[in-house]
Amino acid sequence: MNILGIESSCDDTSAAVLKGNMVASNIISSHLAHREFGGVVPEIASREHERLIVSVVQRALEEANIKKSDLDIVAATAGPGLIGAVLVGLNFAEAFAFALQKPFVPINHIEAHIFSNFIEAPYPNFPFVSLTVSGGHTLLALVQDDLSYRIIGRTIDDAAGEAFDKTGKMLGLPYPAGPTMDKLARQGNPNFQKFPQALTKGYDENFDFSFSGLKTSVQTYLAKQTPAFIEAHRADLCASIQNAITSVLVLKTIQAAEKFGVKTISVAGGVSANSELRRKFEHACSGKGIALHIPKPIYSTDNAAMIATLARLKAERGLIERALRYDYPAFAAFQG
Ligand code: KG4
Ligand code: ZN
Repeated sequence: MNILGIESSCDDTSAAVLKGNMVASNIISSHLAHREFGGVVPEIASREHERLIVSVVQRALEEANIKKSDLDIVAATAGPGLIGAVLVGLNFAEAFAFALQKPFVPINHIEAHIFSNFIEAPYPNFPFVSLTVSGGHTLLALVQDDLSYRIIGRTIDDAAGEAFDKTGKMLGLPYPAGPTMDKLARQGNPNFQKFPQALTKGYDENFDFSFSGLKTSVQTYLAKQTPAFIEAHRADLCASIQNAITSVLVLKTIQAAEKFGVKTISVAGGVSANSELRRKFEHACSGKGIALHIPKPIYSTDNAAMIATLARLKAERGLIERALRYDYPAFAAFQG
């Protein structure tokens, strides 16, 4: 089965082709135009997707060495995301599928992250606890073989990626600050300054997260320091902030696996590219005999291979005939 996947929910225009369960291409064009604004500007994202979508899809087909007519399924992100951005990829994909008279499968972006460890073998065993940590989401879920999942925890305020990006911005790092903070932290002392790890002590049975207190704490702390001190200790502060965020994520995910008696953990989303988060998870899981799955960094951040992969998993389970046009919220909103 050949599947074309398209992703356009935020600031990456991406198209991928799966041949069977092999990724034959995964083209990602990241919008650099947002950098000067220190965050994603929704209208610019929509226009960039519109400018890039045709050439990105063309390159994905060329690199996979496949003709449009040999595609069996077209899948695209149908939300959640920036609505204008989502609609560019979604409308393109639907029209493309319609013209080819092939089935179109709308995909939930967060679910695609949850199943992104199925892009490449070895795949996680079901049931597994999934931690999805991205710029917009922080979600713990218990996932079953039929692709159903129960959300057992989520952030009650900021997402983990947002915590990286916003505290990084306070330290003068460019957007998105997460990857830069990861690099700088390697030269810093994680115990230089203790920042809050919310909802941990006494919350063993509560799997929700909170990062807004950390943000306030970093802001209050920095306001008391001189620019020269901040400059001299930028790496230490990055390491200390990163330590607070990653410690909570690992602690709660392991507690959830233990509570639900699950022996497999899957981590995904942009923040799962963080080297300290990976190191802490590897250490904690190996000590407890838990199998750990984290995608390659290129599949951690937004990509279309994960969209095509979830379409593949659905097709393998006979679930795609249920995925009709009316199933996704962007369209349902117009149904009255
Ligand atoms: O999944 P993603 O590409 O897009 C969303 O769906 O949000 O995640 C982007 C987020 C950003 O907040 C970015 O700073 C963060 O992932 N991120 C990282 C790293 N790489 C990306 N955060 C920490 N360390 C990294 N190495
Ligand atoms: Zn994402």
